[in-house]
Amino acid sequence: MEIVIQADADEVGRVAASVIADVVARKPDGALGLATGSSPLKIYSELAARVAAGALDFSRMRGFALDEYVGLPFEHPESYHAVIDRTVTRPLGFDPRLVHVPDGMASDIAAACEAYEQAIVDAGGIDVQILGIGANGHIGFNEPTSSFASRTRIKTLTPKTRADNARFFASPEQVPTHCLTQGLGTIMCARRIVLVAQGEGKAEAVAAAVEGPVSASCPASILQHHEHATIVVDEAAASRLRNRDYYKYTYANKPDWQRY
Ligand code: GLP
Repeated sequence: MEIVIQADADEVGRVAASVIADVVARKPDGALGLATGSSPLKIYSELAARVAAGALDFSRMRGFALDEYVGLPFEHPESYHAVIDRTVTRPLGFDPRLVHVPDGMASDIAAACEAYEQAIVDAGGIDVQILGIGANGHIGFNEPTSSFASRTRIKTLTPKTRADNARFFASPEQVPTHCLTQGLGTIMCARRIVLVAQGEGKAEAVAAAVEGPVSASCPASILQHHEHATIVVDEAAASRLRNRDYYKYTYANKPDWQRY
């Protein structure tokens, strides 16, 4: 794991965007794994600025969202279909036909999940997966005790996650109780992972994921087993890491050839 500690949320977005930009420049028809939530928004705005400046082109990239609510129509502004379209597909100039989101309205949920896994395989796998982290250590919507071997499937959201996401809805009861999410096994198949976290509220989850035992109680801790995971956090989100100084020293002395 590489831990990159930056002064603030803007710098987190800039550093993480550079990792993504590097992958896209090397493989312009690759596949990018997309996260929703507030954590990656600065990555997307930074990438959109680079696209507007003519430095980057996503028109041939494929996109695969991590997750979707069950039973929320695509037109609902908080469905992840709508969120991905608004925050990623349009601003970054993806071809909408190449952007996939799990189908939370499917009548056959199991078949929809299987089809989603197959679509990722057909695209040649995910080249770089963007992740946020929930306050309870979830990634995607893989709540604590999710199997490390899990693939895309239906999950029940914890009351904590529903409460955390209530800010996006008119009332807490409107947050769906179920979701479809790429599994931890699916996420671990991505060739590269970039997880971003900002703020004190994520400090405990980040410490558990990076320095705690690998345990299904903190789903993000499985990333300790990934061969190329980069965790980019601001000072507040890094505040509970015991080895902060070491991570800063490592990054400050990172050779140029290893930049991304
Ligand atoms: C959400 C999403 C995750 C996200 C996490 C944190 O429920 N399913 O992909 O990383 O919870 O959200 P935020 O970035 O808004 O803190």
